[in-house]
Amino acid sequence: MNEIATDGYRGILEGLSKECRLRSIPLAGTDADQEKGRSRLVDLCSNDYLGLAARESEFREAFMHSCPDAAFTSSASRLLSSAQRYHLMLEKALEHLYGKRALLFNSGYHANTGCISALAIPSTLFICDKLVHASIIDGLRIGNADFLRFPHNDLGKLRIMLEKNAGKYARIVVVTESIFSMDGDLAPLRGLTMLKEEFPNMILYVDEAHAFGVRGERGMGMAEELGLTDKIDIIIGTFGKAAASSGAFVATTELLADYFINTSRSFIFSTALPPVCCAWTLFMLQNILLMQPERERLLDTSRRLREALGLPCGEEVESQIIPYVTGDAERAVALAARLREEGYLVLPIRRPTVPPGGERLRISLNAGVDYNSLTRLIEIIGNEK
Ligand SMILES: Cc1ncc(COP(=O)(O)O)c(C=O)c1O
Repeated sequence: MNEIATDGYRGILEGLSKECRLRSIPLAGTDADQEKGRSRLVDLCSNDYLGLAARESEFREAFMHSCPDAAFTSSASRLLSSAQRYHLMLEKALEHLYGKRALLFNSGYHANTGCISALAIPSTLFICDKLVHASIIDGLRIGNADFLRFPHNDLGKLRIMLEKNAGKYARIVVVTESIFSMDGDLAPLRGLTMLKEEFPNMILYVDEAHAFGVRGERGMGMAEELGLTDKIDIIIGTFGKAAASSGAFVATTELLADYFINTSRSFIFSTALPPVCCAWTLFMLQNILLMQPERERLLDTSRRLREALGLPCGEEVESQIIPYVTGDAERAVALAARLREEGYLVLPIRRPTVPPGGERLRISLNAGVDYNSLTRLIEIIGNEK
C-alpha cells in the first residue's frame, strides 16, 4: 500500500504508544507463557463468571449427544433462515424465565446498537448513565438520537433532567447497566423503577450483561434478584460472559419485540447465530439455573477481596468486578505485568474504555477462584499503595 496514504494511521499508533495506550491481543496460555512456566495463571480477566467456560470439556460429550443435528451455520439472517429450531427453543426458554418476549441478537454489541438506534424515532430523548457501555453510545450515534447523560448513579440529577424534558418529548428512554462493566458497582434499579411511576412517558432500558447468570436465584440478573423484572421495560442479557457462549437477547413486551424484528438493523442485516451456538447456550442455561451455590460463593469471594484491598464495601458496590484504580496508564500496565510474573492474569484498562485518571486494573473474579489463591495478589497491590 502507498505509504503516503497510511501515514496518518501510523501517526495515531505512535501517539497511542507514547501515551502507553497501545493495545495488543494478550498472549496468555501461548508458548511464551508456557516457556516461562506460567501455564497456570489465575485468570482474573475473563468474563467467565461462573467458571463454565473453563469446564467446557466436562460438558462437551453430553452436549454433542443432546443435539447432534445442530448446524454450524444459519446461512442467513433470522428473517430468511430455515434453521430456526434452536433459536426458537432458546427464545421460548428465556420467555418462560422472564415472563416477557425474548429476541436473540448476535452479540450484546448488536443488541444495544440495534435496539437503541431503532428506539430513536422523532420525539424520543435518551437519558443515559454517564458510564454506560460503548455499544449503547454507538447505538445512539447510529440512530442520530437526542441524548443527555446523567452523573453516574445519581437519581437526583436524573429526576431534574426528567422534570425538565418529560413534557418536551413523547418518550424518554432512561438507559443504565445493572452491574457496571468497569466499576462493578450497581445501578439503583429500585429507584429507577419508582421514577417510572412519576414520569409515565419514561421507558426503562437495563443492560444486564454482567449480571445475567451471576445474580438472582436462577441467574436472571439483578432484575430477578430485586423482584423488578416486570417493572423494567427492556432488559438486555448477553451469553458471552457468564453463559460461556456467544450472542445476546432482549427481553421486552410483545409490541417492542415485534418492533425490533421490523426495525433493528443489526437484527435484520446480519447472519443469525449458528444453531449449534443457540443449542449450547440452552445447554448452559440449564446449568446456570442450578448454580446458586456458585453465585453465592462468587459474591462471598468478591466481598472478601474488596475488604482485603481496602475498597468500599456495601450492597451498592458489591459484584464480581473489582476495580483497582491506579490513575495512570503506566502504573496500571506495570502493576499488571508484576502480577503476571506472580501468576495472575489481570489486564490494565486504559482510555478510551475509562475516562482519563480512571486507568485501572479490572479484577474480574469467577466462581472457580479460591480466595486463598489471592493472597499474593493482595500483598502486591497492598505494597503498591
Ligand atoms: C455492559 C455491556 N453491554 C454489552 C456488551 C457487549 O456484549 P458482547 O460482548 O456480547 O458483544 C458488553 C461487553 O463487554 C458490556 O460490558
